[in-house]
Amino acid sequence: KLQTEEVEVFSTPSYACQRRTTLDNHNAVLTDALSLLAENAELSGEDGRGVAFRRAAAALKALPLPVTRLTQLGGVPCLGGHSLRVIKDVLESGASPEVEALRRSERFKALKVLTGIFGVGVKTAGRWIGEGILTLRQLRDSGPTLNRAQRAGLRHYDDLNRPVGRAEAAAVAAVVEAAAGSVLPGARVTLIGGFRRGKQTGHDVDFLITHPEEGREAGLMPKLVSWLDSQGFLLYQKTNSNSYLEAAEGPARPASNMDRFERCFSVFKLPEEAGRGGAGAGGEGGPRPWRAVRVDLVVSPVSQFAFALLGWTGSKLFERELRRWAGHEMNMCLSSHALYDHRQSRYLRASSEEEIFAHLGLEYIPPSERNA
Ligand code: CTP
Ligand code: MN
Ligand code: MN
Ligand code: MN
Repeated sequence: KLQTEEVEVFSTPSYACQRRTTLDNHNAVLTDALSLLAENAELSGEDGRGVAFRRAAAALKALPLPVTRLTQLGGVPCLGGHSLRVIKDVLESGASPEVEALRRSERFKALKVLTGIFGVGVKTAGRWIGEGILTLRQLRDSGPTLNRAQRAGLRHYDDLNRPVGRAEAAAVAAVVEAAAGSVLPGARVTLIGGFRRGKQTGHDVDFLITHPEEGREAGLMPKLVSWLDSQGFLLYQKTNSNSYLEAAEGPARPASNMDRFERCFSVFKLPEEAGRGGAGAGGEGGPRPWRAVRVDLVVSPVSQFAFALLGWTGSKLFERELRRWAGHEMNMCLSSHALYDHRQSRYLRASSEEEIFAHLGLEYIPPSERNA
């Protein structure tokens, strides 16, 4: 008896912000390969290629089942020739020769190690590699001048490259809440970034802070930082002051990806609680009583809170796609501060993420489904 084998053909909308992407990825082998190519492009300063691979990976992350054949991908967007070749190799032989060669490449390994230092970007890493510096040991020995962030990054390299767990994120949250409550009673602290999307680990912990009374949040960051410092919680911090003025800048200077809130990049000295200080915290002298954790703090006025919340929850690709959708499909300009409608020549107000999705003509996607 002849049986036709049924193979599902997948299709999914083309913008990541139109899709629900949970952490339950059925195509991790494929998306890991594409993400590695994206990472390599970004580390080589080829941002356009990086975005193309990120989009391809994100489209596969949204599929409900594992892909087994190339013919299933007819309705899947964002797959260019290069991505399709990699997918084909992985489906046929379990691996892509290009990706495996990349994994082994000295340059890629060196770029990963060096940009793994907090404060070291692609350009600095590339320059060091040009000078023959490929490892942390060579960096320490040859001693190029390091700035304050890089010195902290090198000093705490192991801690900062060890994933932060949810329990540690909660411990950081308790500290930030104590700090905020002490310097500005009534201040509200919200966990954002990957942990808000439901991730079990992160490379840092991100917080958005506001106050229900507009204006009370002004100048909060320096006070917060000085409280944290006085209590011994900071190993490093760099604070940027708020430079966003809606009236002065307006839509003429739209959606710069760098938002202009009061924000602080920091490294916390987090006490390790008894019972979970073990893993990786050891040195010669046994478990240490603390570990270094990267923490990002952002302060927003309550009038911009929904935009800040949406803009800082991520994922990075989801955010990029939201802005692209706003611009290309809606003739609007979305930032972490505001939404400007070019057709109506006015700002659209919102006090919740749901309202922003509605303004954008998009179905609401909750944080746990923004893992594009
Ligand atoms: N972000 C930003 N500007 C930056 C850095 C980050 O707007 N200079 C935003 C990103 O777009 C993202 C959020 O801040 O929405 C969190 O970024 P990040 O902490 O880098 O990533 P996570 O998604 O939290 O992932 P991880 O778990 O690795 O921290
Ligand atoms: Mn599923
Ligand atoms: Mn984060
Ligand atoms: Mn962050």
